[in-house]
Amino acid sequence: MTNPALDRLPGSAFVRLRALLDPLAPAVENTLAMSIGEPQLPPPPWVAEIVAANAHLWNRYPPNDGTPELRAACAAWLTRRFGLPAGCVDPARHVLSAAGSREALFLFALAAVPQEKNGRRPAVLMPNPYYQVYRAAAEMSGAEPVLVPASKEGGFLPDYAALPEDVLERAALAIFCSPSNPEGAVADLDRLTGLVRLARRHDFVLACDECYSDLYFGEAPPSGLNAAHALDADGGEPFANVVVFHSLSKRSSAPGLRSGFVAGDARILRAFLKLRSYAAVAMPLPIQAASAALWGDDAHAAANRAHYARLVAAADRIFAGYPGYLRPQGGFFLWLDVGDGEAAAKRFWQEGGIRVVPGRYLTADDPRAPNGNAGHAFVRIALVHDEETVTRGLSTLRALLDGGPRR
Ligand SMILES: Cc1ncc(COP(=O)(O)O)c(C=O)c1O
Repeated sequence: MTNPALDRLPGSAFVRLRALLDPLAPAVENTLAMSIGEPQLPPPPWVAEIVAANAHLWNRYPPNDGTPELRAACAAWLTRRFGLPAGCVDPARHVLSAAGSREALFLFALAAVPQEKNGRRPAVLMPNPYYQVYRAAAEMSGAEPVLVPASKEGGFLPDYAALPEDVLERAALAIFCSPSNPEGAVADLDRLTGLVRLARRHDFVLACDECYSDLYFGEAPPSGLNAAHALDADGGEPFANVVVFHSLSKRSSAPGLRSGFVAGDARILRAFLKLRSYAAVAMPLPIQAASAALWGDDAHAAANRAHYARLVAAADRIFAGYPGYLRPQGGFFLWLDVGDGEAAAKRFWQEGGIRVVPGRYLTADDPRAPNGNAGHAFVRIALVHDEETVTRGLSTLRALLDGGPRR
């Protein structure tokens, strides 16, 4: 009756979290959700004005690929942000708008994964832990999801080059996230260059999820587009085999706008646009107008970045000396080793009224990992509130960990 691939997907992390915590009553009155990665800061106030000024466009079907203004703004941002040579990102060929990066990541697998690769079932490579949509995209496209450990020893990034040749030959798509959710790990240009070489050698698509790329606390993370462009490519396509996914959800604190874009290899984007013309929900024109302005506004993004840098500095202070703390390089999550993530999440909720996500819920089981799951020891803590709230929340968690017998 229904697609059995759906049965292979684990329940959503948030459904599992509710099942874990809802039966428990917190001992405190004030509760705090540090579970959901939803920025609580506002987007720039003028977004609402642009949407209102374009209200006469609500009766128009929007273009699937994005207005020329929006695509030009995305291309200009890519060029500025990643220091790409002027003119190398062609808005008409290298950029497609998307209603947020989630839908684009999911639908993209349907466009990129063939029914067979080298006569066998294709594989989609992804990190483990992983953003839940990657797994769904792989399963629903008929591919085998290959979850590659993003271990502490490997800098919390997956090493696709170390996979057996047999798997690489079947790889149709490799999804790579930097800065990563949940660990906040950032890939340098060398690593990205190695990935692009691997993708070209084995003829798969490298899909770089870069939706946190404007939130960083050291060097600005490079893009897969930098690596693709730096290597000589066939046929004059500067971004051969590479597509990147971007979003206004984190950069501009606008997850409710549902606005993102995909950029990269023009040949792949042409196929993706064909699929999108049947299956994607195009972004309404007033939202496209506001989005174009947001991609042009680096000042708000810089203020956002400074805000998250203050939150990470607070985490540095509060978790100083705590052995399970590792400073994230980007994004807005802490990936904290607490020994047993589920037990800690229950205690944080019951005793401190704070919700966090057990790492296990974001990680596929792996018999090679301790306790059968590499996320077992961790919790993910979202730093998305104002500084005072985050400082209070983190201080409570630290006190619980220090006083807690179950570390
Ligand atoms: C790693 C990662 N990729 C993609 C997304 C999707 O974001 P959006 O659809 O809001 O652009 C998220 C959102 O949480 C994320 O964490």
